[in-house]
Amino acid sequence: MKILVATEKAFAPVAIKLIREVTDAAGHQLALLENYKDVSELLAAVADADAMIVRSDIITAQVLDAAKKLKIVVRAGAGYDNLDLPACTAHKVVAMNTPGQNSNAVAELAFEMMLYQARGGFAGKSGSELRGKTLGLHAFGNVGKYMAEIAKGFGMDIHAFDPFVSEEDMKRTGVKACNNAEELYSKCQYVSLHMPANDKTKKSIGYDLLKKMPKDAVLVNTARKEVIDEEGLSKIFEERPDFKYLSDVEPDARALFEEKYKGRFIFTAKKMGAQTEEANINAGVAAAKQIVDYFKTGNEKFRVNK
Ligand code: 3PG
Repeated sequence: MKILVATEKAFAPVAIKLIREVTDAAGHQLALLENYKDVSELLAAVADADAMIVRSDIITAQVLDAAKKLKIVVRAGAGYDNLDLPACTAHKVVAMNTPGQNSNAVAELAFEMMLYQARGGFAGKSGSELRGKTLGLHAFGNVGKYMAEIAKGFGMDIHAFDPFVSEEDMKRTGVKACNNAEELYSKCQYVSLHMPANDKTKKSIGYDLLKKMPKDAVLVNTARKEVIDEEGLSKIFEERPDFKYLSDVEPDARALFEEKYKGRFIFTAKKMGAQTEEANINAGVAAAKQIVDYFKTGNEKFRVNK
């Protein structure tokens, strides 16, 4: 079988080496399309692929139309909002993700941004510390759990809200459960977002929630820009000079923020959360193994389409 790695944002070379070891050992052929600039390159590369490993690459019905032999696509990562799932199903393509494999990298980035901001970007002025501060985890999945682990080391007071996780599960990890998002935002100076982007969560973080945050509020977004209501965010920036926004995703309103709120936000140059050698190895190798296993045994454990 031909397995294509199609990544507009390439994996670390060491991850490709290890992915190749997995596919070689199973007798499959590995093809690479890395750092491509135009969808036409993707359309050409998928033509004879039986399987595909992608990252945030957008897999539309058009791509699937061009991938006549494709049987499985694995998103090496957690969020699969970049895969058109109904189109995958219609094309009889199995779609999977690799949950948890890059979660530690994302959690570390959230802390890196928090520390950088707390020390004023290391510019020589007096800053603040994380110890004793309140941290609110909005969603308590894989990344949220790594966040809690790291936050404990920093001596933070950790709260979480997640309608899908029980209070007992939170307590077991030393996290205080909130009954709703309003409670979380009212209690926490730092709020970090860890929910997927879906119909329920899109534009769900806006003015009404953010205005509840205490003084010197910091919103940390290593999730998706779609979960933010940017109009509400702009309104908070306008009303509250103490409000900061740290984001691993460039907002649509970047130009406005740069013009009006300089020094009160961090936006990474490119989505960086999962961009470590370790995360690339974990997610890339997991994706390769899932494909090999699917071809060998039909294992669909991580399937996300019906
Ligand atoms: C994920 O959903 O796993 C992360 O957003 C990683 O995205 P990336 O593979 O494009 O870095």
